[in-house]
Amino acid sequence: MKLPAGAPGAKVLAFGHYQPANVVTNDDLAKIIETNDEWIQSRVGIKERRFAGPEESEIDLAVQAGGKALAASGLAASDIDLVIVATCTPEAPIPNLAGRVAHRLGVQAPGAYDLNAACAGFCYALAAASDSIRAGSAKNVLVIGTEKLTQWVDINDRATSVIFADGAGAAVVVPSETPAIGPVVWGSAGDKADAIMIQDRSSSLHQEGQTVFRWATTALHPVAKEACERAGVAPADLAAFVPHQANLRIIEAIARKLGADKAVVARDIVLAGNTSAASIPLALSRMIEQGEVPSGGLALLLGFGAGLTYASQVIEIP
Ligand SMILES: CC(C)(COP(=O)(O)OP(=O)(O)OC[C@H]1O[C@@H](n2cnc3c(N)ncnc32)[C@H](O)[C@@H]1OP(=O)(O)O)[C@@H](O)C(=O)NCCC(=O)NCCS
Repeated sequence: MKLPAGAPGAKVLAFGHYQPANVVTNDDLAKIIETNDEWIQSRVGIKERRFAGPEESEIDLAVQAGGKALAASGLAASDIDLVIVATCTPEAPIPNLAGRVAHRLGVQAPGAYDLNAACAGFCYALAAASDSIRAGSAKNVLVIGTEKLTQWVDINDRATSVIFADGAGAAVVVPSETPAIGPVVWGSAGDKADAIMIQDRSSSLHQEGQTVFRWATTALHPVAKEACERAGVAPADLAAFVPHQANLRIIEAIARKLGADKAVVARDIVLAGNTSAASIPLALSRMIEQGEVPSGGLALLLGFGAGLTYASQVIEIP
């Protein structure tokens, strides 16, 4: 039996992101449910978010973000041989999204699979992409996080409808002579599976907010620190910290405990809400576009969410 020679490392060549056009402010929500701008901003940190309408699916969002990442990478669709779509909100489970997204982007016959690790999904998918390149199973990988959470959230449930939103972010991952995607630290806490769940096909997303809040602010900074350690990077040397955009108070608590004093901390939640698997690439892509982070600098990613799942790695910013 023979095995292919893999690449010494992998890197993200380019990011891309997309949000639906429809901006929903806290005041807009206050017209539908009993809530207010002050409560949402002080408890969660969100000012506005985007909701996709019935004409726009999670596949449409993924195609937009994936197309932008591909264009920014300078690669052709024909260069991609693996497409991984991280999502936990497909409208239906069969067929998967990845094959249809690839087809819409003109990627011919790639390996194509969906990955569900909820809000940690992008970090899981990035690790899978990097490992596939290093093992020689794939050459160039398109990784997309896409979510249409609004189709699984009850607008009348104010505990969730003010938080979750729609969007997509994508990365083109390619071989690299020197490693530019660090080792992933990943794990799960299945004993807390009930904390965020959709019970069955007629249910909406339900979460135990305080359980999740407590877990996120106590269990995750050691994971982030371990990802730095395993990459041989001191938190003080990070140019950016891009955690999952779940709640501004969670983001700031983890950032404080991490001690990444020079790092620009992603606060994309303010304008994007919680877009689950899309939130990390969406935030980082926008930070790059707006010149907030240096090319070649190191960014620490930290995904966490339903499952409960988590994953973290250091990457070099393209
Ligand atoms: C969801 C979350 C913001 C709720 O904040 P909280 O401080 O735990 O709020 P509680 O649920 O205890 O509710 C506090 C009060 O606000 C009220 N409230 C809840 N949602 C509200 C809303 N959208 N608008 C206004 N008031 C609201 C409650 O009814 C309650 O009122 P009461 O004190 O009169 O009973 C918070 O728990 C959280 O962010 N958890 C983490 C969730 C998360 O990040 N999930 C995604 C992980 S991927």
